[in-house]
Amino acid sequence: MMRGIGAATVALVATLAFQSSAEAQVTFASAAGIDVDVTYSADVAPIIQKNCTVCHRPGGIGPINLVDYDDAKRYARRIRRQVSNRLMPPYYYDNDIGIQELKHDWRLSDEDINTIVEWVDQGAQMGDPDLIPELDLIDTEEWSFAPTLGQPDLISASTPIDVPASGLDMWHRPFVPTGHTGGERCIKALQVKPKGAAKAVVHHANTTFQFLQEDGSFEASGDRASEYAMGKLGELIPDGVCRVIPEGSYIRWDIHMYPGGLGGAAPNTIIEDNVVELGIWLHPEDYEYEYKQDLSLYGLRDGELLMRPNGTTMTQGFKSFDHPVRIDSFQPHGHLRLVSASLEIFYPKTNRTEVISMISNWSATWHQSHLYEDDVAPLVPAGAVLVMKQWYDNTAGNPNNPDSDQWVDGGSRTADEMSHAWIALTHLDEEGYDRLVEERKEKAKIIS
Ligand code: HEC
Repeated sequence: MMRGIGAATVALVATLAFQSSAEAQVTFASAAGIDVDVTYSADVAPIIQKNCTVCHRPGGIGPINLVDYDDAKRYARRIRRQVSNRLMPPYYYDNDIGIQELKHDWRLSDEDINTIVEWVDQGAQMGDPDLIPELDLIDTEEWSFAPTLGQPDLISASTPIDVPASGLDMWHRPFVPTGHTGGERCIKALQVKPKGAAKAVVHHANTTFQFLQEDGSFEASGDRASEYAMGKLGELIPDGVCRVIPEGSYIRWDIHMYPGGLGGAAPNTIIEDNVVELGIWLHPEDYEYEYKQDLSLYGLRDGELLMRPNGTTMTQGFKSFDHPVRIDSFQPHGHLRLVSASLEIFYPKTNRTEVISMISNWSATWHQSHLYEDDVAPLVPAGAVLVMKQWYDNTAGNPNNPDSDQWVDGGSRTADEMSHAWIALTHLDEEGYDRLVEERKEKAKIIS
């Protein structure tokens, strides 16, 4: 059973309703009205090469290869199903509510989905093989931002650890130097990357900057470096703001491994030397900025998180600031029972609520930091309230649920649940806020 693309529409009416049958929700059928021959070589290969082969290739994290025509034809029906239900590429974000302009958005366009569906329905034809674009596979160990930003300026690796391939949760918390010297600098981008087999066992990896004290202990600088959870790409800090890397600091890793659950490796084996790397791209020394930006964990839950066996629950939490902020990214977090999450802003002056983002088929295997495009990143006046709502399903109808007969409450094991979000905020002042609002009004005038 799968959840489908209709869930968002239903949620509008019934607030986070659960959609159990995806097949009934598929809107991309042959009725798309394409009356020309759709072929692999001319139409489908470019879509698959651009959106799928990064994972579906030898050594990639996808379970099947999709590098040539034979692969695509063999798995045609599965491709049709995954793509039309918007389960692949794995970027879960509702496309009919909230802000849609996102950076590094992996979602396929309706047009591409229609092309694939039509191709399968027409019999998955090859077409003229000479039209197949040359396949350019990037190294699976390569940094995702390398094509646009080059290699990171700093790479800080966690100390290696051996993990049994099947087992319960484990945590690893080493300290390693960032390698950064020479004054305060601003970070342009960050990516946390489990190396090799570690990809299968690392559930999440948080990093904070810390300073070594004279007595050998460490003290947090107050700055968070990054956060990684399965499936995540990385973080880009918008131009014109600064996320600080403190000089001479260490990275404190907090790596949560869950070998038995999400990974899927042979029993009784040990996955050796697991290492997670943090790549940091820096702005030049003379980089100019006005406001600071940070990434923080907001525990957005008022009240208890507790689910009875075969039960469901919903949480919500609130956060406001005494100064205006701009929301640069949003990444809800939960575990195996979390089904949907939304971020809203409540404006006390007008009593209006605005939905910013909604993910109604959330999955613990795919954590994305949804990065808002610069022109639409929400500008939040002082005193307005961020509201996060999350909906959990502990019934057997939830395909991610390992055991619907358990009580589930808040906690850090994979079998427990969580209710929080990673949010990157630029901290503005009144003047900066007014200026950004004005700039957007001007742009809107030019466009209309
Ligand atoms: C970021 C990596 C990634 C990308 C990009 C990606 N996939 Fe996947 N895909 C996976 C993983 C991992 C799985 C298995 C786990 C899951 O379903 O989440 C999977 C599962 C699948 C399956 C089901 C395989 C089976 O055994 O039934 C199909 C079909 C599929 N993907 C097709 C696609 C297509 C088509 C695209 C591009 C339009 C795509 N994927 C893009 C990683 C990816």
